[in-house]
Amino acid sequence: MNTAIRKITETLLLNPSDNGAVYNAVHELHGLFSTIAGVTAGDINDEDIYLSSGKAVSSTKAAHCLLEYQRTAVFLRGVYKAILQLKRDFPNERLHILYAGCGPYATLLTPLTTFFTADELAFHLLDINSTSLGAAKKIYNNFGLNEYVEEWICADASVYQVPPGQTVHLIISETMQNALRKEPQVEIMLNLIPQLPAKGQFVPQEIVVSVKLMSPRLETERLLVPGKEFEGIDLGTIYSIGSDNCTTHEAVTITVPGDVGIFKQGSLLTDITTFGDERLEMYACSLNMPLNLFNADEHLGQQLRIKYQIGKVPGFECQWLD
Ligand SMILES: C[S@@+](CC[C@H](N)C(=O)[O-])C[C@H]1O[C@@H](n2cnc3c(N)ncnc32)[C@H](O)[C@@H]1O
Repeated sequence: MNTAIRKITETLLLNPSDNGAVYNAVHELHGLFSTIAGVTAGDINDEDIYLSSGKAVSSTKAAHCLLEYQRTAVFLRGVYKAILQLKRDFPNERLHILYAGCGPYATLLTPLTTFFTADELAFHLLDINSTSLGAAKKIYNNFGLNEYVEEWICADASVYQVPPGQTVHLIISETMQNALRKEPQVEIMLNLIPQLPAKGQFVPQEIVVSVKLMSPRLETERLLVPGKEFEGIDLGTIYSIGSDNCTTHEAVTITVPGDVGIFKQGSLLTDITTFGDERLEMYACSLNMPLNLFNADEHLGQQLRIKYQIGKVPGFECQWLD
C-alpha cells in the first residue's frame, strides 16, 4: 500500500471539518497523480468531447476537479460510506464498482485502494475520453493497483449497458455543473440507475434543484460571516433525481410573489447528497453555485414554467406564462 496516498485518504475521510488539512491533502494527491499520469490541472489547452447527452470535459478540466477540495472530499466520503453499506447488504461478495467518467486519476476510487483490498472491490473504469483513461492506467500501473481493475471501458455512459450476467453493486458518476447544465449527469443517471440490482447504490445518491429568491447584498455579507443562516424566499424544488427517484423531468410552474422585499434575485440552487449524511450545499463548490435566472422585481405575481431539457446542451428552459 502507498503510505502517502493512505495518509491523504485518512485526512479526506476522517477530518471533514479541517478545511486546511483537506485543501492540502487534495493538492498533495494532485502532485502524486499528475506526475505519473502526465495530465496536470494547469492551463486548459485540450478539447472537450461533445456527445448527444452533453459535454464530456477534457482531461485537464477533469484533473482540475480534484482540486475542488470540498467536492472531492464529500464525494469520496460518499463513495466510502456507500461501500460500507454495500458490505452490509452483500456480505462476503466482491463488490463491483462502475466508475462512469473516471477522468485521468479515477479520483473518487483510487484513494480507497488504501482502505479496501482487491478481494473486496473490483473496478470497472469507464470514460469517453481515451486520454483520460490512458492517464488513469499509468497511475494504476505505477502504484501496482491493477488487481483492482476488472476492465477499462472507453464508452459513453449515457448509453452504456452493463453486459448481461454481470452485476454492478455501485455506480459513481460526477459529470455535472451547477443546475445540471451542459454535462450529461441526468442522462447518465437515467441510463445507469435502472441497471443496478436491488440494494445497489449510486453516488451521488440524490441531486435536488430548487428556485430561491435571494438578496445579493445579504449573500455577500453571509459569505463573510461563517455559520450565518440563509435568508430568502423558497419557491420550491423543481427537480429531484437519485437512486430512489430516477425519472425524467416533468415541467414545473412556480409563481413569483407579489411582494419580494429585498429578495429580488431569482436563482437555481443545487444541493447534492453524495451518500447518507454527506452533502454539498450552497457555495460548497462550483456544483452548488447559485445560477441567476431572473430579476423578481420585473415579474411580480407572474408564473414561470420551467422544464429540464436533456440532449446536446442539457439544462433548464424557462418561459413566463403571462
Ligand atoms: C467532471 S469530470 C470528473 C472526473 C473525476 N471523476 C472526478 O470526480 O474528479 C467528468 C469526467 O466524466 C467523463 N464523462 C463525461 N460524460 C461522459 C459520458 N457520457 N460517458 C463517459 N464519460 C463521460 C469526462 O470525460 C470526464 O473525465
